[in-house]
Parts: sequence; C-alpha cells; structure tokens
Amino acid sequence: MPEAVASDLVGALRCRTCHAEAYEQWRQTPHARAFDRLAPEQRRDPRCTACHATAADEGLTGVQCESCHGPGRHYAVDAVMRDPALARAVGLDRGDAAGVCTRCHTADGPRLVPFDPDAAMPLVRHRPPPGAH
Ligand code: HEC
Ligand code: HEC
Ligand code: HEC
Ligand code: HEC
Repeated sequence: MPEAVASDLVGALRCRTCHAEAYEQWRQTPHARAFDRLAPEQRRDPRCTACHATAADEGLTGVQCESCHGPGRHYAVDAVMRDPALARAVGLDRGDAAGVCTRCHTADGPRLVPFDPDAAMPLVRHRPPPGAH
C-alpha cells in the first residue's frame, strides 16, 4: 500500500457504513482482535503495535481494512468508490496485492508452521468461494 501519512486513514467504522457484510466478516477474524490480545504495556510499545494495529496513535487498533486496502481518505467516498479505476488511482488496493500479508506475517515470526498465503487467504476474504455453502 502507499506510504500512509496519519491523516489519510479513516478507520473501519467509516468503511462499515457502506460495507456492513465485509465489516461483520472481518470482525470474526483474528485481525479485528489483534490489539486486544496485547498486554497493557505492549499496547504502548511501537514494536508490537507496528503489526497489531493499523495506527495505534490514532486509535485505529487491530489490523483494520486500511492495512490491506490502503488509506481511505481519498477513495472512501461514494462517487470515487463507484469508479474502480479512480479509486485505485487514489490509493485503493484489492487486498491481495503482492507483499501485503508478508509485511506482517514475516518469515522470522513465532510460528512452527510457515505462513502460507494460499492457505491463509480464505480466512481473510469476506465472502465464501463460489460453490461453497
Ligand atoms: C460511501 C460508501 C462507501 C464507503 C464509505 C466505502 N466504500 Fe468501498 N465501495 C463502495 C461502493 C459503492 C463500491 C463499488 C460497488 C461495490 O462493489 O459494492 C465499493 C467498492 C469497494 C471495494 C472493491 C473494489 C473493486 O475494485 O472490486 C473495496 C476493496 C472497498 N470498496 C473497500 C473499502 C474500504 C476499505 C473502505 C473504508 C476505508 C470503503 N470501501 C469505504 C462504497 C463505499
Ligand atoms: C512483524 C509483525 C509483528 C510484530 C512486530 C509483532 N507481531 Fe505479534 N503477531 C504477528 C503475527 C503475523 C501473528 C500471527 C501469528 C502467526 O503468525 O500465526 C502474531 C501473533 C501474536 C500473538 C498470538 C500468538 C499465538 O500464539 O497465537 C501474540 C500474543 C503476539 N503476537 C504478541 C506480540 C507482541 C507482545 C509484540 C511486541 C513485542 C508483537 N506481537 C509484535 C505479527 C507481529
Ligand atoms: C488482512 C487483509 C484484509 C483486511 C484487514 C480487510 N480486507 Fe477486504 N479484502 C481482502 C482481500 C484479500 C479481498 C479479496 C480480493 C480479491 O479477491 O479481489 C478483499 C475484498 C474486499 C472487498 C471487495 C468485495 C468482496 O467482498 O470481496 C471489499 C468491499 C472489502 N474487501 C472491504 C473491506 C472492509 C470494509 C474491511 C474492514 C472492515 C476489509 N475489507 C478488511 C483483504 C482484507
Ligand atoms: C498489519 C499487519 C498484518 C497484515 C497486513 C496482515 N496480517 Fe494477518 N495477522 C496479523 C496479526 C497481528 C495476527 C495475529 C492476530 C491475533 O491472533 O491476535 C494475524 C493473524 C492472521 C491469521 C490467523 C492466524 C494464522 O496465522 O493462522 C490469518 C489466517 C492471517 N492473519 C492471514 C493474513 C493474510 C492472508 C493477510 C494478507 C491478505 C494478512 N493476514 C495480512 C497481522 C497482519
């Protein structure tokens, strides 16, 4: 995603006003709870909030929409969102752009099983794959 300056973020609640279903699905994922998991002193530690919050200093906790879709200030308005090319031009990412996951899911993380984007992606997508019930 483009380098975000603080003021370019709008927060997940703004996205929810038009994307209620995606929001509710996201709420069920570990990303929405990633900040709550930290102990109080860790919530003030930039070494932790770098990946467990979209922008802790702005109160945007957890891995919110804009961590994957890019900062929304310029695209998260109706007229722009209805024009996909324009939305992309002003910062909207599809969510599965190259490198978006491994920015936080780094190879040296505390996992026994290495991060596999193909296996992890279904948990993140906001709708079931075609044919699923
Ligand atoms: C004012 C209403 C509104 C707001 C606020 C809004 N969107 Fe949208 N969004 C739309 C509309 C309308 C579309 C295009 C039609 C559709 O696919 O639903 C869209 C499409 C999208 C798409 C699909 C783009 C594509 O090319 O397929 C993504 C991703 C998206 N929005 C993310 C977000 C995120 C993240 C936020 C918050 C930062 C946000 N939107 C805020 C109305 C909105
Ligand atoms: C480079 C990004 C990154 C940083 C920095 C980071 N984390 Fe995480 N953390 C992750 C990811 C990604 C996961 C998901 C675990 C996984 O890989 O399955 C995670 C998972 C966790 C979990 C859950 C572990 C589990 O067993 O389920 C805790 C607790 C946690 N991190 C605490 C911290 C603390 C405390 C810090 C600061 C000292 C920190 N993290 C810094 C990316 C990061
Ligand atoms: C961990 C990354 C991630 C987060 C966080 C995330 N998304 Fe997505 N989003 C994706 C991926 C991946 C896709 C599917 C991309 C594709 O297939 O084109 C997607 C697709 C979408 C779409 C296109 C329509 C659809 O349902 O597939 C919309 C709208 C959307 N996201 C909105 C949101 C909103 C609103 C939030 C926050 C409440 C959010 N996303 C949080 C990764 C993410
Ligand atoms: C801004 C950092 C960040 C980004 C970007 C990110 N994640 Fe995460 N992800 C985390 C953290 C932190 C956790 C741990 C949440 C917890 O358990 O508290 C996590 C947890 C997960 C989990 C559940 C634990 C696991 O490893 O099985 C999945 C699945 C996942 N992420 C997939 C993805 C995918 C797929 C993408 C890219 C589309 C992505 N993430 C992008 C930070 C991020």
